[in-house]
Amino acid sequence: MSAATLSPAEIIHRTADYVRAEFSRDSSGHDWWHIYRVWQVAQAICAREGGDPFVVQLAALLHDLDDYKLVHNPDGVPRRALAWMAQMNLDAATTAHVRDIITGLSFKGAHVSDEMPTLEGKIVQDADRLDAIGAIGIARAFAYGGHKGRLLYNPDDSPTLHTDYARFSQNQSHTINHFYEKLLLLRDRIKTDTARQIANQRHAFMEQFLAQFYKEWDGRDLDLAK
Ligand code: ADP
Ligand code: NI
Repeated sequence: MSAATLSPAEIIHRTADYVRAEFSRDSSGHDWWHIYRVWQVAQAICAREGGDPFVVQLAALLHDLDDYKLVHNPDGVPRRALAWMAQMNLDAATTAHVRDIITGLSFKGAHVSDEMPTLEGKIVQDADRLDAIGAIGIARAFAYGGHKGRLLYNPDDSPTLHTDYARFSQNQSHTINHFYEKLLLLRDRIKTDTARQIANQRHAFMEQFLAQFYKEWDGRDLDLAK
């Protein structure tokens, strides 16, 4: 069957198969299961908030295909996603919409704007961010730090609230700093009400985790007499 005659459901199915194969070898926290969770959560948010489920699903599935941490992509053009959409014979408007979502998605630093003009963009961005916080977000952060050979924590190295993407993305510090430089800032950048409810719970869990982490670091839980 030629791609010109594919139904939207078939395009989503083929896109999921393609992306699953592309991500099957990654261990930096950018694995297929991250894409899968973002895809599922984005669909659930879309069912509550509205928006075009086809655009939401395509953007969720394709959102990390051209990530700078996976492929060399200095100009930010999502070439692999665009090539795939061309292969699926998607119309120009849908292609441009999905491209804009993918390129606008990322958190770029504490003081850098990340507005998403369309509802579909807000939904996919929220779903991606929900996966960066809570228990899974914690696991992903330490997996990423391990992949990069970073320390868990160093009390002598405090966090930086970045004002530009270049410095944020080149940051080499320990993983606990990543909580202050990104993860704890995400809740206030969530755009849809549905995602905000989930984000509140996941944010509270990260705060509990950090409180316990410092308690153990300082040995305060060892002092049984107090
Ligand atoms: P996003 O998909 O929100 O743009 P990234 O692609 O930047 O997120 O990062 C993917 C995962 O790796 C996220 O869970 C993120 O929190 C984690 N990560 C990114 N940079 C760091 C870092 N410097 N230290 C720890 N974890 C990181
Ligand atoms: Ni992602």
